[in-house]
Amino acid sequence: MKRRIHNIACIGAGYVGGPTMAVIADRCPDISVTVIDLNEDRIAAWNSEALPVYEPGLDEVVRRTRGRNLRFITQREGAAAVAAADAVFISVNTPTKTQGSGAGKASDLSYVEACARYIAEHAKGHTIVIEKSTMPVRAADTIKRILATTPHGGTFDVLSNPEFLAEGTAIRDLEQPDRVLIGGETPAAVDALAEVYAHWVPDQAILRTGLWSAELSKLAANAFLAQRVSSINAISALCEVTGAQVEEVAKVLGTDTRIGPKFLKASVGYGGSCFKKDLLSLVYLCEFYGLTEPAAYWQSVQDLNEWQKRRFAQMAAAHARKHGGIVAVLGLAFKKNTNDFRESPAIDICNHLLAAGVRLRLQDERVDPAAFRATLADEAKTGFAFFTDIEDAARGAGAILILTEWDSYAGLDWVKIAAAAEPGVAIFDGRKVADQVSAKKAGLPVFVVGQGESVPS
Ligand code: NAD
Ligand code: UGA
Repeated sequence: MKRRIHNIACIGAGYVGGPTMAVIADRCPDISVTVIDLNEDRIAAWNSEALPVYEPGLDEVVRRTRGRNLRFITQREGAAAVAAADAVFISVNTPTKTQGSGAGKASDLSYVEACARYIAEHAKGHTIVIEKSTMPVRAADTIKRILATTPHGGTFDVLSNPEFLAEGTAIRDLEQPDRVLIGGETPAAVDALAEVYAHWVPDQAILRTGLWSAELSKLAANAFLAQRVSSINAISALCEVTGAQVEEVAKVLGTDTRIGPKFLKASVGYGGSCFKKDLLSLVYLCEFYGLTEPAAYWQSVQDLNEWQKRRFAQMAAAHARKHGGIVAVLGLAFKKNTNDFRESPAIDICNHLLAAGVRLRLQDERVDPAAFRATLADEAKTGFAFFTDIEDAARGAGAILILTEWDSYAGLDWVKIAAAAEPGVAIFDGRKVADQVSAKKAGLPVFVVGQGESVPS
């Protein structure tokens, strides 16, 4: 039977649920979209002028759609929206488990299971339930089992429709995706969801697979991306001791069409809420199925990332301790153009620095200082403070670290900053954004990941 989706509900108004539903509402004015969340403050923010997620272009999309065919409501008000929905997206967090079997690696599906119970309780008629969250392969079995307990005699199809957007470019990624992936067992349900995306995505970019392939493809895609960053970071360390330049090496690699140029930027390590948790989930799955060598292979990608952050922090701490013991950290977000700092390299690097006994002066243009403060374990009681102005942050610093590639850091006047800092100050550029000419004019040595140190002549 042909199915059509007129009414969508989405559970989870986070970095994925909010922007994804806003773009669906924008591109499908004939579909009514309701986003539901437990977190009442988050829903209030989605209904205000200060959205809870910073993404270039998001404000405009929400302004066009909110109150037209997009609304944000709390879970207490959500039952009727689920009952009326032809399709319900599950877009809640799937963090790493912290207790029980698989703790420290396996995905915690308790939020997903709570959604499935909520849908089972409130859905009416036939409902297509769509996994938008990243799930371990075969999670749909768990969802189906819970949905089967519905007291209303409702029927369900379960689809996997993982999201591939990257933060900072979410709206562009949603509006012009490389591909949309739909995994399912019932062609009518797959077609109904494909018809939603067909409002703006070309047919050849809508990939249809089995349910398990779709679930696993998402984990595999993130693992492949993380693996490229760890590979180039492994090469970056070798560049620093041999005189090779990682940017030149990456360019050579990237011009091989079999390798391609993207995700070859050496850095202080990857961050973000997903690479680490999805890699660990993949490691756990491999171990669960007795695949020891594949588990060790994917674990090594994460281990290399931890090493990259640690060695960068150690180099900076050693320099700072010789020059007054203060470090200025520019950039706390895990990448530019987002206010998100979940698993940001800045967290681990700051904690390594504090443990090494240096004091920190922190600056970022989007990250909320109070929230970031909560991630710092000031074991050594050395202390840290936040600044909005970069010169203030650099005052008295013996080392200035750049951890996020904010565009504003490319235009810094290093002569002015050096005047505020400690004599002997050096720049540790983890993103290769600092203007080398200006730094040279200021007489500052610059250490760049994958390039080593350039000392002004
Ligand atoms: P998030 O933490 O920003 O948002 C999740 C939201 O779900 C929160 O607002 C939370 O309050 C809400 N929630 C949790 N349980 C709920 C329940 N039972 N009922 C109602 N609301 C509930 O997470 P996110 O970054 O949007 O990620 C969501 C999923 O998408 C994860 O599985 C993640 O791996 C995946 N993903 C994330 C990204 C990304 O860039 N952040 C990209 C692709 C995929
Ligand atoms: C990543 C994937 O790119 C998305 O496709 C996926 O949907 C998402 O994870 C997810 O599942 O959450 P995201 O983490 O938002 O997106 O951002 P990326 O652009 O992938 O960057 C991740 C981290 O890797 C950042 O810290 C970034 O600075 C770092 N990175 C990226 C590098 O160090 N070098 C590179 O060449 C690329």
